[in-house]
Amino acid sequence: MSDAAERHRLQIEAWNGPMGVQWATNEGRTERNLTPVTQALLKAAAPQPGEHVLDIGCGCGGSSVAFAAAVGPTGHVLGADVSAPMIEVAKATALPGMDFVLADAAAHAFSPDSVDLLISRFGVMFFGDPDAAFANIRRALKPTGRVAFACWRPLAENPWVRVPMTALRAALPSMPPPGGPEDPGPFAFGDQARVARILTHGGFAAPSFEKFEFNMRFPADPVVAATGIVMIGPAGRVLRDLPEEAKTVAIAAVAEAITPYIAGDIIALPGAVWLVTTTPV
Ligand SMILES: C[S@@+](CC[C@H](N)C(=O)[O-])C[C@H]1O[C@@H](n2cnc3c(N)ncnc32)[C@H](O)[C@@H]1O
Repeated sequence: MSDAAERHRLQIEAWNGPMGVQWATNEGRTERNLTPVTQALLKAAAPQPGEHVLDIGCGCGGSSVAFAAAVGPTGHVLGADVSAPMIEVAKATALPGMDFVLADAAAHAFSPDSVDLLISRFGVMFFGDPDAAFANIRRALKPTGRVAFACWRPLAENPWVRVPMTALRAALPSMPPPGGPEDPGPFAFGDQARVARILTHGGFAAPSFEKFEFNMRFPADPVVAATGIVMIGPAGRVLRDLPEEAKTVAIAAVAEAITPYIAGDIIALPGAVWLVTTTPV
């Protein structure tokens, strides 16, 4: 198996394991947190009534619902995700004019030339083989189609992960090292040059990048907030296997690091996003 294929297999395994279950369980909180990103993505993508939208890595379907409202009763949204626990949540929220499919973006036989607008809210950075995935979803787009997705800017610009991650690494020597530049993960599309390379290789025009910033909001109790933060990301995998005592120490370290971000009745940690748009060539 090639490195890319193995990376891809591991991602599918992870999103169908405890991490996917955790995302499915926390769907309501995640959706409230990411509403500003959905609004910004709607603005960048400008969906029109009657359009057909494909939402890649739709997760529990929050962005799909927002785009379904925008394209109206004559439009259609297909949400595709490789995580069984998350797509089950999405299916339960489906409205008329929406469908959800458990599908790997790199391999699924989407209906060719059927999509006006391809979108993703934080889904495309997790492709183990992004070249294969973009080449595959490109075939679903009409020649007149458009692409708009939201991805995280580099870790250094995202205190909502950088702050807890730095504290965790100091507290937990067993934390795996950060991924390499070609590894899938939340910050895999932080580098504009890499994103441009993948998209142009996949048959798209040189993309435009727009910056968007917002606050990720967590409960004001730092220990409650820290527990939620560490369990949704890759750190969750390490923490789940730790003895209770070590877990408590790690969460206390994260809680201390995020305490300065208490803002009234929440903890507000800044997040920085790219809104990427392009068209097929
Ligand atoms: C960070 S979550 C974002 C979910 C959702 N878009 C949201 O904003 O709440 C990343 C999503 O990408 C999905 N994903 C990862 N690799 C995928 C692939 N090859 N094909 C389809 N979905 C994939 C995961 O299952 C997960 O639901």
